[in-house]
Amino acid sequence: MKTQLTSPNVNHGAEKLIPRPVQASVSEMAEIVLPNDANPLNALLGGRLMHWIDLAGALAAHRHSRQWVVTASIDHMDFLVPVRVGDLVILRSSVNRVFRTSMEVGVKVWVENYRSDEKRHVSSAYLTFVTIDAAGNRVLVAPVIPETADEKRRYEDAARRREIRRAESKHRNRT
Ligand SMILES: CC(C)(COP(=O)(O)OP(=O)(O)OC[C@H]1O[C@@H](n2cnc3c(N)ncnc32)[C@H](O)[C@@H]1OP(=O)(O)O)[C@@H](O)C(=O)NCCC(=O)NCCS
Repeated sequence: MKTQLTSPNVNHGAEKLIPRPVQASVSEMAEIVLPNDANPLNALLGGRLMHWIDLAGALAAHRHSRQWVVTASIDHMDFLVPVRVGDLVILRSSVNRVFRTSMEVGVKVWVENYRSDEKRHVSSAYLTFVTIDAAGNRVLVAPVIPETADEKRRYEDAARRREIRRAESKHRNRT
């Protein structure tokens, strides 16, 4: 399946448009929280976690697209539990859905306390990455194939989230 696109600023990169399963993009990143990552109460800074989420998301986007990517947006995020210095943070990412030159990536974050063997959900985020070539032109992304029930659910939900994002963006840019 190839996407038709006529914009002059889009590089078709046909040789890279081979559909790939979601599983091929699944990535995992692990970080130990150090004092430099934390506030004076020894809790992980929200901005540091957002940085890690951006990187974890980019890993999945690169693996799927085999292209350079830029972050176009990060959806709303909640920080559900505090993370402390010494904790282990695990970030798991995968491509939920490809549109034309953009793709939605989901990142889920857990904190693991290896002394007490506890694992808790910290945050989840949806990011949109846009693929670009060396000249800054956007590049078509290969289709992604959802296989499991969860992957299919995320694939369907991603289309709804894209519509919400577009509506919100239109509204923001009008005000
Ligand atoms: C993201 C960027 C490439 C979009 O360029 P643009 O000229 O606005 O492109 P378009 O409006 O034609 O949209 C291109 C694609 O990006 C998507 N897109 C654009 N803005 C978006 C946003 N805010 N959120 C989600 N997707 C977005 C569009 O839906 C479209 O996707 P599609 O091709 O899959 O249909 C451009 O805004 C940019 O370079 N931003 C800076 C990125 C950056 O530096 N990120 C690092 C953080 S500072």
